[in-house]
Amino acid sequence: MSYPSLTLEHDLTAPALPTGSPRLSWTTPPGSPAQTGYAVEVTAVDGTVRRSEHDGDESVLVAWPFEPLASREQVEVRVRTRATDGWGDWSEPVIAEASLLHASDWQARMISPREGHAAGDPAPVLATEIDLPDDVVSARLYLTALGTATVWIGDRRVGEDYLAPGWNAYRHRLEHRVHDVTDHLLAAGPRTQVAAVVGNGWYRGELTWDLRLCYGDRIGVQAQLEIETAGGERIVYGTGPDWRAAATGVLADDLYGGQTTDLRRPGALETAAQAGGAVDVLDDVPTLEPALGPDVREIGTLSPLGNWRSPSGAQLVDFGQNLVGWLRIRVLRAADGQLLKVRHAEVIEHGELGTRPLRKARAEDVWTLPAVGPEEPLVLEPTLTFHGFRYAEIEGIALEDIELEAVVISSDLSRIGWFECSDPEINRLHENVVWGMRGNFVDVPTDCPQRDERLGWTGDLQVFAPTAATLCDVRGFLTSWLRDLAADQRADGTVPVVIPDVLVPDVDSQFAAGWSDAAVVVPWVLYERYGDLAVLERQYPSMTAWADAEYTAAGESRLWDTGFQYGDWLDPTAPPDDAAAAKADKGVVATAYLVRTLDLVARTARVLGKDDDAASHAERADAVRAAFRVAYVRADGHILSDCQTVYSLALAYDLLGSDEERSGAGRRLAELVEEADAHVSTGFLGTPVILDALCHAGRPDLAHRMLLQRGNPSWLYSVSMGATTIWERWDSLLEDGTINPSGMTSFNHYAYGAVADWLYRSVAGLAPTAPGYRTISIAPLVTGDLTRASARLLTPYGEAAVSWVLREERLAVGVTVPTGSTATIALPTDDDVPAQVGPGRHTFEVAWRSPV
Ligand code: BGC
Repeated sequence: MSYPSLTLEHDLTAPALPTGSPRLSWTTPPGSPAQTGYAVEVTAVDGTVRRSEHDGDESVLVAWPFEPLASREQVEVRVRTRATDGWGDWSEPVIAEASLLHASDWQARMISPREGHAAGDPAPVLATEIDLPDDVVSARLYLTALGTATVWIGDRRVGEDYLAPGWNAYRHRLEHRVHDVTDHLLAAGPRTQVAAVVGNGWYRGELTWDLRLCYGDRIGVQAQLEIETAGGERIVYGTGPDWRAAATGVLADDLYGGQTTDLRRPGALETAAQAGGAVDVLDDVPTLEPALGPDVREIGTLSPLGNWRSPSGAQLVDFGQNLVGWLRIRVLRAADGQLLKVRHAEVIEHGELGTRPLRKARAEDVWTLPAVGPEEPLVLEPTLTFHGFRYAEIEGIALEDIELEAVVISSDLSRIGWFECSDPEINRLHENVVWGMRGNFVDVPTDCPQRDERLGWTGDLQVFAPTAATLCDVRGFLTSWLRDLAADQRADGTVPVVIPDVLVPDVDSQFAAGWSDAAVVVPWVLYERYGDLAVLERQYPSMTAWADAEYTAAGESRLWDTGFQYGDWLDPTAPPDDAAAAKADKGVVATAYLVRTLDLVARTARVLGKDDDAASHAERADAVRAAFRVAYVRADGHILSDCQTVYSLALAYDLLGSDEERSGAGRRLAELVEEADAHVSTGFLGTPVILDALCHAGRPDLAHRMLLQRGNPSWLYSVSMGATTIWERWDSLLEDGTINPSGMTSFNHYAYGAVADWLYRSVAGLAPTAPGYRTISIAPLVTGDLTRASARLLTPYGEAAVSWVLREERLAVGVTVPTGSTATIALPTDDDVPAQVGPGRHTFEVAWRSPV
């Protein structure tokens, strides 16, 4: 008997679903017989049962087989599967509840304080009092804000999330979040206060290096509390003109700047109780949609590793890990009016806090303290800002008078991928990628989390998406971001270089190869890794609009060699102050990306059954390929600008026509890598593909040499310099321990971390060959450089894993294939090994043959 384990839609932290037709996925335990059919059963609140039975072996993102749920509707769902020996048992039931799905579901209005709350004024609290029925059985709070909102019912904070509702393409859409607040109401008295503190967040915070306010000058909150009583009544309270506003003791709050709080003033709830200021109802609110991604939450804490006095006398604290979040400080002793200031930085330079890379982001939290004694310590933390830091400088209070911990925040994504190998520095590199992802996946995928930027740079995500999708379940998170992308995409199909787009209107005309291509690559990655067809359907108009715009940009010549490009951004040989001055010819790079996008759109059209579209995009791809070869490639495979990146792109994206070209390009790439003593010489666009390209060229040995190179520039250089996250530049920290002199040096940029995907696919050898890992390739690259590697992945079908150990020329390999999936096996051996295996655990021991 097998008990399927059922999940609905994406990995959500919310109690309600963003759709009335949640797709169903289930996994069955290892060893379960092959599925030949399934049944879905829903039980409505009134006990009505509906069932739907189907033939087939699908189990991932299966369409909802009933009428869509209405907003707020709740049903219990369970599934069971059929195999040749009959029906298995029902799964545990799962509650499916729909969120507010339509604008008309909202009675609450967006409210904003009428006076005294301009940008730069204290954070407001908005509040009201409500009468509660005495027979509450269930309650939900639907919440959104222009800015960020934290709500209290009575004296209990709602939810565990921060910075809600998050960052969207606010000119077009705004997500709302939902909380189960039944317990809050059961704990509250018959008349209770509902209060919301509203922060500037992304909506009215300073964004970009110009510190601009990008959206609107009025922040606000819209909250709807819905209560169900035992008598079956639904009572709805919402923000509206009767609410009151007041200024809190949070005197200033900004994501870049930090937070300033006067703790001698009454707390937010006390202030709310006295609030007398009028509010205005704001009518101009973007379209509301239920949030698709998980909440931003505290995902851990770190204790200080040590503290010391800097040469200038500053008190510095080291948390041992570059992270994103803030300090939680327990003040044991303070005098009334004492100022406590915290400054943050990722690195120490010349013994002092290295804040230069933060540029205009002040990243300072300041408190004015009341008198505090150890009998009643005071715990403080800013929650309307966040910082990227490893070190903190504490001013105004002795370290003996406080206790500190660092709070780590991130979008609360489920971890699904793990990698380990025999080289501890590669393991640290992998860990650095994981930390970089945590810190830069704070509601929006950002370039970096610390300086005056923190923007959704499309190029950075475009290269990192496969790694992100391997480490964590990013379906909801990136589906939401793709909706923002489609919303901010311009009428001519061009895709801004940051999403949400805050560079308009100045950089309005900017779109770029490798950046704007995120519109096509990211949906494809979600399909490839999770089998999510709906994301392709939904994004298809956006994908094709970009492909058309990109093709148009290339013009008659079919070569995209004009206009603005970032190119192979941050090539290590580019001067520190000119990151775009790469060795790779910009036309070669952009035209290679054009082919890749046209190929992926053609494949997407095919998958969606749009055969005519597929043919026309494929035709365009061929035409551009042909033009690329004529303009840039010699018969012997030499490519214009002759550098690691151009060969890598040409090999990885299949741009070459003849075997001679391909083998010539491969040889030249290998030569260049050997000449560089296996140092990387690629920027943002060459780096994610160079190791694959070396493998295509039959030189996995060189790929390993490059991976294991420790000198500058290389992946392990940063590790050898003590990095705990991935750096923006290969040499963000120079060999002498000083910070790179450029005005653009972050220590937490995930782009070069794109290599982690290769660790899974090639070093461990676990890769999807059909969407969602329905079929898997097990092909570990065992070159003799590493003696052990393993990867484990929670695929939509269940756990897939590979581990191998090389000992005295014998290779022992263990493979786990989830139920519903099959794997092809290719091991570096001349021994006989089955070419294909089915679900279950398999082990092989073979004589190792070096792959070169
Ligand atoms: C960001 C990058 C981004 C780039 C555009 C930088 O300022 O930090 O990661 O992709 O600009 O090329």
